[in-house]
Amino acid sequence: MPTSRTLHILVGTVTNTAEYVAQAIELDCADLVDHIEVRLMDDLGPSVFSAGALYIICTSTFGEGDVPDNARALYDALDRPGLRLDGVRYGVIALGDSVYPQTFCNGGRRFDERLASLGAQRVGERLCLDASTEREPEARGAAWCRTWLAEALA
Ligand SMILES: Cc1cc2nc3c(=O)[nH]c(=O)nc-3n(C[C@H](O)[C@H](O)[C@H](O)COP(=O)(O)O)c2cc1C
Repeated sequence: MPTSRTLHILVGTVTNTAEYVAQAIELDCADLVDHIEVRLMDDLGPSVFSAGALYIICTSTFGEGDVPDNARALYDALDRPGLRLDGVRYGVIALGDSVYPQTFCNGGRRFDERLASLGAQRVGERLCLDASTEREPEARGAAWCRTWLAEALA
């Protein structure tokens, strides 16, 4: 069973920005935990979550405020009746674009709301990365994660 010294980053993406952010965290935050595992959400199910372990949901937003296609199966599977994720702790990096003000960063928001409804506990506030204004999403995500890990591991 993974310990809280492993950070699992689950990536939902279409055009790879979220994956680059996750990879930047993997490089930049390696000194803060024993291991960082970056996984695309494709083919993942709810069993990826373990009580006591630490996760970052790093996902963009597509369609009309929806999760990316590669995150759809996992997102839908988290709606399974009776599923509980008590003891799971997570953070959210939500990528979006403020040219879509009605649905800005909704992909991350949707995962956040679903995980919370299952009893998982969010650590810290969501980070929203706006494609219209954020020139260095990787650096911003890695800097956010260093602060976030300090809180998560305290
Ligand atoms: C067709 C399309 C639809 C999008 N819809 C939304 C949206 O509803 N809300 C939002 O905040 N961003 C939306 N975006 C912006 C993406 O989420 C943003 O560009 C993000 O950085 C892409 O990350 P990715 O490369 O990891 O997929 C959309 C982008 C495209 C191309």
